[in-house]
Amino acid sequence: MIQTVHLTKQYGKLEALHDLNLHIEKGKVFGFIGPNGAGKSTTMLILATLLAPTDGKAYVAGYDVVKEPKQVRQALGYMPDFFGVYDNLKTAEYLDFYAAAYNIPPAKRKSIIVDLLELVNLSDKADAYVDSLSRGMKQRLGLARCLVHSPDVLILDEPASGLDPRARIEMREILKQLRGMGKTILISSHILPELAELCDEIGVIEKGRLIACGAVEEVSAGTRGISVMQVKVLQSHDAARTVLQASPYVRRLDDKGSHFRFQFTGTEVDKAVLLQQLIGAGIPVVHFGESKENLEDVFLAITEGVGS
Ligand SMILES: Nc1ncnc2c1ncn2[C@@H]1O[C@H](COP(=O)(O)OP(=O)(O)O)[C@@H](O)[C@H]1O
Ligand SMILES: [Mg+2]
Repeated sequence: MIQTVHLTKQYGKLEALHDLNLHIEKGKVFGFIGPNGAGKSTTMLILATLLAPTDGKAYVAGYDVVKEPKQVRQALGYMPDFFGVYDNLKTAEYLDFYAAAYNIPPAKRKSIIVDLLELVNLSDKADAYVDSLSRGMKQRLGLARCLVHSPDVLILDEPASGLDPRARIEMREILKQLRGMGKTILISSHILPELAELCDEIGVIEKGRLIACGAVEEVSAGTRGISVMQVKVLQSHDAARTVLQASPYVRRLDDKGSHFRFQFTGTEVDKAVLLQQLIGAGIPVVHFGESKENLEDVFLAITEGVGS
């Protein structure tokens, strides 16, 4: 549903995207992860037909973003990373305005707007002025806006950024509903743990290059051969540290009381050997495993030192 082929974008001398190849299948939720300036928004703008690529191709729902922008826009809902200022416009009017822009007949608009407001939990704000809404509400309204023409594909640029934890959870629940409706979603973030639960696949981008891509566990297993491990011991803490420090595969050992976290660069066999060494030294190990749930760790591990 979404594909980029050797996509490259230059802003003057700055290469914001370099040979980006993405492939997102129908019904999948793809998390686009990277620090500020990585090229996430640039990629999304190109896919939304709002920015021309310098080189390469991009397709949405099979349509070429450069040659068939109209069809792309019809298939796609794009939520930018900013929300404009809307003086004197009420929530329902705002959605009506965008529905009209998509040539949806007035008779149909009303029920679409009622449904959308319900989906994003803003039914009781239909008559509130847009500028009076909280940031979380505005973000949800922005999401509703990109759904007025019921597109199959959604491109959401950091929809959870700047939200408090509660508003973030609310946004995530709505995104889960959209996933349940079979939408194909490309969503960007630098708040990584937010995406882990939601996404089928993630792609990590840095300095315009895709440096890791795949299922969350695959990426954490490491295209670059790095995983993040957690070890917990009941006692003999110092002895455990000594064993871990001695391993050539352990990096960035972080020591939190009885907990250890570290990056591991060896194979599965090396991992087994390390566990044997700990147990062989008489250390009561109660936990020894990969830290899968923490995407932040994975991200730090794989982006470490890239391009710098
Ligand atoms: N309109 C522009 N003109 C020049 N440089 C830009 C423009 N937009 C973005 N950039 C630069 O391109 C790079 C990628 O930016 P962007 O796609 O916004 O990254 P992200 O969304 O991942 O933070 C950054 O170095 C940014 O400064
Ligand atoms: Mg951005």
